[in-house]
Amino acid sequence: MNEYVANESRYEQMEYRRCGRTGVLLPKVSLGMWHNFGGVDDYERSRTILRHAFDQGITHLDLANNYGPPHGSAEETLGRVMDEDLRPYRDELFISTKAGYDMWPGPYGEWGSRKYLMASLNQSLKRMRLDYVDMFYTHRFDPNTPMEETLQALVDIVRQGKALYVGISNWPLEPTRFAINYLRERDVPPLIYQGKLNMLNRAPMEEGILDLCHQEGVGFIAFSPLAQGLLTDRYLNGIPTDSRMARGKFLRKEMLTDELLAQIQQWNAEAESKGMTLAEWALRWILEQQGVTSVLVGASSVEQLDKNLRVVKG
Ligand SMILES: NC(=O)c1ccc[n+]([C@@H]2O[C@H](COP(=O)([O-])OP(=O)(O)OC[C@H]3O[C@@H](n4cnc5c(N)ncnc54)[C@H](OP(=O)(O)O)[C@@H]3O)[C@@H](O)[C@H]2O)c1
Repeated sequence: MNEYVANESRYEQMEYRRCGRTGVLLPKVSLGMWHNFGGVDDYERSRTILRHAFDQGITHLDLANNYGPPHGSAEETLGRVMDEDLRPYRDELFISTKAGYDMWPGPYGEWGSRKYLMASLNQSLKRMRLDYVDMFYTHRFDPNTPMEETLQALVDIVRQGKALYVGISNWPLEPTRFAINYLRERDVPPLIYQGKLNMLNRAPMEEGILDLCHQEGVGFIAFSPLAQGLLTDRYLNGIPTDSRMARGKFLRKEMLTDELLAQIQQWNAEAESKGMTLAEWALRWILEQQGVTSVLVGASSVEQLDKNLRVVKG
C-alpha cells in the first residue's frame, strides 16, 4: 500500500458531540475493535477499515486488553497501523482501552484490583505502541474488590500520565453513582459511561444509568448498537457463512428465534418505508436518546462502515 495521507475533508464528513459537560467532542459514530481486528483476521483488511474510518472523521477508536482473538492482538493491530499510517495523526485520535475481563492466567489477570489494572494498562501501551491512551476504562464492576481500590487506580493512572481521562463500563447504577462522586472529588471526573444500548436491549435506559449520566454531565457511548448485526439486513434471509453468527461464539444461532426474526423483519419494513436501512434506523434511534454521545459500531468491511455512517448525514 502507498504511503497514507488522510482525506483532507475528513472533518466535513462527520458531526461531533460534546461528551457530557466536558471539553471533549466525540464523533457521533465511533469504531470498536472487539471483532475484525485480531491476529486471526486479515491485517490488510483491518488496516483498510481503520484508515477509511479516520478518513470519514471517525476520531474515536475503542479497544480493550483482551480484544482479538487472541487476547491483546487487536491492540497489536492498532500499534502496527499507528506505525505504518496513523502516527502523524496521533493528536487527532481519541483512543480508549479497558481492563476488567480475563486477560492472563492467575489471580492478577482479571477483575478490578490495582495490581491488575496498572499491569494491564502498561501491557496495552506497549502493544499499541503508545505513550498514553486518551481514555482508560474499568471494563466491569468487581463485587469482591473495594470500589475505592479500583477507582483510586484510575485516578493514579491519570496522575501518571498514562491516560488523559477515565471511563466506566458495565457498572450497575449505584456503584456508578459512587464512582462519579469518588472520581470527581479527586479531580478526575469520569468522561463517559460505556453500556450496551440498542433497540433490543434498553437496560441503561430502564435502569436509570442514561439519566444519571445526563444529570451528572458524564457522556454515554452505546456499545453493540446493532445488536452485533441483528439490527441490520445481515440475517433477514438466513445466516451468511462469513457472519458473526456463523462463527457462533458471541452471537449464537439459538438467539435468532422465529419471534425475533419477525420483529427484525417488521422493523426492516418500517425503516424502508421511511427511506432508511434498518441499521441506519437503529443507530438513529440510539442517537436520539437524551444523554447519548456516540454509537460504537463494529464493522467487518468498509461497505458496512459506510452504510452505518449514513446516520451522520441528514
Ligand atoms: N464495554 C463492553 O463490555 C463492550 C462489549 C461489547 C462491545 N463493546 C464495544 O463496542 C464495539 C461494537 O460492538 P459490536 O461489534 O457488537 O457492534 P455492532 O455494531 O452492534 O455489531 C457489529 C457487527 O455487526 C455486523 N454489521 C455492522 N454493520 C453492518 C451493516 N451495515 N450491515 C450488515 N452487518 C453489519 C458486522 O458483523 P459480521 O461480522 O457478521 O459482518 C459487525 O462486525 C466493540 O468493538 C467494542 O469496542 C464493548
